[in-house]
Amino acid sequence: MKNKILILAGDGIGPEIVTEAVKVLDCLNTKHRLNLELNHALIGGAAYDQFQTPLPTSTLEAARDADAILLGAVGGPKWESLDISVRPEKALLGLRSELALFANLRPAILYPQLADVSSLKPEIVAGLDLLIVRELTGGIYFGQPRGIRILANGEREGYNTYVYSESEIRRIGRIAFESARKRDGRLCSVDKANVLEVTGLWREVMDELSKDYPDVELSHLYVDNAAMQLIRAPKQFDVMVTGNMFGDILSDAAAMLTGSIGMLPSASLDQAGKGMYEPIHGSAPDIAGKNIANPLATILSLAMMMRYSLDLPEVADEIDLAVGRLLDQNLRTEDIYSAGCNCVSTQQMGAALIKELH
Ligand code: IPM
Ligand code: MG
Repeated sequence: MKNKILILAGDGIGPEIVTEAVKVLDCLNTKHRLNLELNHALIGGAAYDQFQTPLPTSTLEAARDADAILLGAVGGPKWESLDISVRPEKALLGLRSELALFANLRPAILYPQLADVSSLKPEIVAGLDLLIVRELTGGIYFGQPRGIRILANGEREGYNTYVYSESEIRRIGRIAFESARKRDGRLCSVDKANVLEVTGLWREVMDELSKDYPDVELSHLYVDNAAMQLIRAPKQFDVMVTGNMFGDILSDAAAMLTGSIGMLPSASLDQAGKGMYEPIHGSAPDIAGKNIANPLATILSLAMMMRYSLDLPEVADEIDLAVGRLLDQNLRTEDIYSAGCNCVSTQQMGAALIKELH
């Protein structure tokens, strides 16, 4: 039975939002006798402060041992001057790569209750339900060689390598086609095939794969156009699949369509469905410790954990529906506040959710 959950609170607002999510997990654990075993470990700046590394071996071992991982956020100004090799973000990249969590699912759903918080007009975003499938363990984030070298003339030159093998493209492609098949059956692959050979291959492999999925309608967009279309008419998309860096950028853009990045969960999965679950927002150091951060992205990440790693879809639905009811009650943290609503703290939002679950 899959029941070992590793909790990695991390930095900034991480501990506050994860505390609320853990209360939700405890509540569901008792209510449904899920027999979940929770362990905690340090990651990011918090780990660096104690062990001089953002990803201690003990944390990596615990992560390997777990069936699913809940992560808050990592990073902050305190660690920004550190060498890139020990920066908190390195821990996140290390976990993704060491655990082969290559499939990053980032849904962007606009709750109808929040249509007026989006920076776009309600008629453009109302009903938005989009899934970005981002490749997470390859591309320019991990390509070798990389570094900063000194040229013959003494000038410095920075370089990275954008590389994807056919098998890497194929495995993320399959996840995307399968996801589209379970949704509205439309998949848009995003590349820069007019300039970059690596994404020319990406496009070819997606076309080859589409023969196995005749029920899914595949289209292609260049990333610049995709960014524009996301802002112009986001509802044209069902599932988007793209590489690591384009996915990083497009998913932040998609997040904003929904009103607040504070509402968006994510799952990072390996081939067997083991996953790391995290809100897509970062550690938000400017609001850390103030009890105002939105815990809902983390709580919705728990729902994804129930769905994708623990095979508990009913529990996932229970969490999703409870979040909808909180919004119906006009409970809002600052990031999703609009006039006439009831502005609540991180802890109040968490407590209100627990009440809904009882
Ligand atoms: C994300 C983040 C990370 C990324 C950072 C923190 C390394 O922006 O998960 O989108 O670039 O992948
Ligand atoms: Mg990002």
